[in-house]
Amino acid sequence: MRLPFATLAISLAVLASPPAAVAMEDFVLEDEVALCSSCHGEDGIPIEPEYPIIWGQEYFYIYTQLRDYAAGRREHDLMTGIAAEYTRDQAKELAAYFAEKPWPAIPAQIEDGDYQLAEKGITGGQCSACHGKWQGDSRIPRIAGQQPAYLVQTMHDFKNDVRMNAPDLNSTMKQLDDPTIDALARYFTTIAVQ
Ligand code: HEC
Ligand code: HEC
Repeated sequence: MRLPFATLAISLAVLASPPAAVAMEDFVLEDEVALCSSCHGEDGIPIEPEYPIIWGQEYFYIYTQLRDYAAGRREHDLMTGIAAEYTRDQAKELAAYFAEKPWPAIPAQIEDGDYQLAEKGITGGQCSACHGKWQGDSRIPRIAGQQPAYLVQTMHDFKNDVRMNAPDLNSTMKQLDDPTIDALARYFTTIAVQ
């Protein structure tokens, strides 16, 4: 009984997968890491301000994001196709690799009035109930010290229902106006990474 079932499973897998997924049978962690590093940075500092730091991010958060991109729950021109190439186990290996790295420091970028606006947004959105001191915990991403231009973009993606993998965040971000989102993103650069 085992053989026909296995054959069916394989043909379904082939049907459901783009050709690239088959190539990932040759998965070599270092080669894939080199691909990630071409954007997320050789030293953990991404090559563009709108690209997120992933060095030292929470293991489970990285893994879920890769699965969410692969499944279309979170869409992005670059990441959707990349994440779709990996099996769960491969995504776990990548997540474990990057989670182990030290979080890289970026310069603080604060402007007058940011603290007041940010604190108002945090109180109103009850962010601390989930994010605590912004250091991350399992499925909750580290936000302290994250690239501000990336944070601005992703907060707008929640607000505009572009990023759909965390429904609570869509309604939370709708309460924040643009100056508050900008202030929050800069404020997070000032929080010490523990
Ligand atoms: C061509 C550039 C590029 C490459 C290559 C790339 N990424 Fe990304 N990655 C991005 C961008 C841009 C984003 C932000 C996407 C968004 O706004 O949803 C991102 C987002 C992510 C996120 C979500 C981070 C967060 O804070 O939510 C993770 C995790 C991630 N990438 C992991 C990887 C891994 C692992 C690899 C290698 C297998 C990789 N990326 C390769 C550009 C890239
Ligand atoms: C109900 C719990 C909860 C509340 C309240 C909450 N968050 Fe989150 N937040 C999360 C979770 C969980 C994620 C990760 C979602 C995912 O898996 O994509 C997240 C993701 C984020 C991200 C994306 C980080 C990244 O790397 O892409 C930002 C930015 C963020 N939250 C900011 C805030 C701010 C600012 C507030 C308050 C105004 C807030 N959150 C309120 C639970 C919460």
